[in-house]
Amino acid sequence: MRRPRADGLMDGMGAMAQGAATHIPVMRDEVLTGLAVRADGRYFDGTFGRGGHARAILARMKDRGRLLLMDRDAEAILAAQRAFARDPRVMIRHGNFADAGAWDEVRDLDGALLDLGVSSPQLDDSARGFSFQHDAPLDMRMDRSAGRDVADFLACADEGAIADVLWRYGEERQSRRIARTIVAQRARSPIRTTRELAELVARAIGRRERNKHPATRTFQALRIHVNDELGSLEHGLRAITGALKPGGRLAVISFHSLEDRIVKNFIRGERPMSAPRGLPPPQQAAPPLRAVGRAQFPAEREIAANPRARSAVLRIAEKLP
Ligand SMILES: C[S@@+](CC[C@H](N)C(=O)[O-])C[C@H]1O[C@@H](n2cnc3c(N)ncnc32)[C@H](O)[C@@H]1O
Repeated sequence: MRRPRADGLMDGMGAMAQGAATHIPVMRDEVLTGLAVRADGRYFDGTFGRGGHARAILARMKDRGRLLLMDRDAEAILAAQRAFARDPRVMIRHGNFADAGAWDEVRDLDGALLDLGVSSPQLDDSARGFSFQHDAPLDMRMDRSAGRDVADFLACADEGAIADVLWRYGEERQSRRIARTIVAQRARSPIRTTRELAELVARAIGRRERNKHPATRTFQALRIHVNDELGSLEHGLRAITGALKPGGRLAVISFHSLEDRIVKNFIRGERPMSAPRGLPPPQQAAPPLRAVGRAQFPAEREIAANPRARSAVLRIAEKLP
């Protein structure tokens, strides 16, 4: 079995096709098969993006089918409204899938999909600051109406907190050195743009890397942090599993090992086992899910056609009675 590639961390994205106009949903056929989409079923897509998977699910549905769409990015939601405002099978809500449980419609689901990460339109929009390919304000929030952006975090956080984020979410070995350089730089002038940060990291690391910019891990780590991506995933998995019918299917596409580990452990029902000294460990609750098959990876053909798919890992699970 191929292992999830840690360098998914370096992509800085979930995979969609290049360019805002074209979208290649990753492992689309595998997702449809895994969800076992039924014509009159009720489905939740918590990461609409530009709707590549959503369209494929809808194409298998008849009139009584329902598709609930969510995204935390207001622009994705605008795209969903433009595409599906007149389709009575579709309901759309702006929000974080971590809060899916607060949406009344998210219940009795036959299936749910999370296609994690960021989209090509997000990466390619130079105003969003996700990519150092464009010089842009350091924002990187998927939901620009909530939370603090990267510029704010780098301006206020202490050196240790910055180093921790780079180490934990970017597995950046030079985390302390980069954090020290950031703190020294911001004492002279604030770090406001993607280019300033990318150059600063390259200076701090001081050596070239083959095939990738030295700031790739730093950008990825800061994005995960400001969007609380791993916390959202943990909450979202619980909320969505709670809303699945017995026999309902969950499909999750991850793009790096930190995400995939959370998904894999959740499906296995693994939780930390600890008990006060001298007492037996607590009983592990029976997992509410069973894994359907093993982790799946995109075929070489798909990766060749859409390089952004290369670090994807798909896991399917079924809710137990
Ligand atoms: C890889 S894209 C999804 C692409 C989509 N499956 C398609 O085929 O077009 C990921 C999307 O998920 C959204 N997203 C990421 N984390 C989210 C969260 N916690 N809650 C809601 N949306 C999220 C991002 O804003 C982005 O639009």
